[in-house]
Amino acid sequence: MILVEGAWFTYPDGPTALRGVSLRVNDGELVAIMGENGAGKTTLVKCFNGLLKPQKGLVVVNGLDTRKATVAELSRKVGFVFQNADHQLFSDTVHSEVSFALRNFGFLGNQIQRRVGQILRSMDLEKYRNASPFSLSGGERKRVALASTLCFDPETIVLDEPTIGQDGSQKKKLGELIQSLNREGRTVIVVTHDVEFAAEYAFRIIAMAKGEIIADGPPSKVLTNPQILDKCALLAPQITQLAQKISEHVNGFPKEIISLQEATSAIREFLRRTK
Ligand SMILES: Nc1ncnc2c1ncn2[C@@H]1O[C@H](COP(=O)(O)OP(=O)(O)O)[C@@H](O)[C@H]1O
Ligand SMILES: [Mg+2]
Repeated sequence: MILVEGAWFTYPDGPTALRGVSLRVNDGELVAIMGENGAGKTTLVKCFNGLLKPQKGLVVVNGLDTRKATVAELSRKVGFVFQNADHQLFSDTVHSEVSFALRNFGFLGNQIQRRVGQILRSMDLEKYRNASPFSLSGGERKRVALASTLCFDPETIVLDEPTIGQDGSQKKKLGELIQSLNREGRTVIVVTHDVEFAAEYAFRIIAMAKGEIIADGPPSKVLTNPQILDKCALLAPQITQLAQKISEHVNGFPKEIISLQEATSAIREFLRRTK
């Protein structure tokens, strides 16, 4: 469980990025943290593995106060995939990149070989085993960064803007991977401003603006609420916009639609009624 209580954070010579943030993420949740650029999303998640420590308030991860734990200790529990893979990658080959954390965390040689083999296969990276991560495309580098975090099997996984630079089918694969990691019992926290992606894959949306949490709830409530979206400089998912347009003309047409499936059944119901 991650518990944040009244956290404030100001960068040296910079802005106050967190203004009294409180939240709780329970084990096994799949949460999206959303909001405009500069809202404080990355700052908040960096507090989850102790990369940053709040100057006021506290962050507790699985019972450990992050001020008293080391980053090494915390990053074993909370695996972090950075927004910019290039800030995370540094090895000569994909294989050594992905095995680095395992070596660092003291896994044994044969365990390392087995895990790296598995993860490279599952992430479609085996053919790049001996290639330099820097020779790969942006989307592939992101997958290497993700693989190097997944291989040590952290209980919680934080992904910062994972959909940027991914095409439609890669996003779908990523969404399915996130859901399967979550079904296996891991806590997954995704920072994103991709409303379609969050609507489809997250079960809870935490919306941030100007260093504060301004909404926290299921996608069907948060992503259909014009006031919240406006404060976060987000647009509703297109399917929600369509439903809201229809509801202006059709009495009783549901406005809190976030999926194609919901829209289809609402339209079917409407057609049935008007027959
Ligand atoms: N290393 C840093 N030094 C100074 N200011 C920073 C630094 N990182 C982020 N900021 C500032 O803190 C605020 C929050 O940033 P961030 O948490 O990255 O927001 P988000 O991830 O929501 O875009 C922004 O105003 C940003 O410019
Ligand atoms: Mg960010």
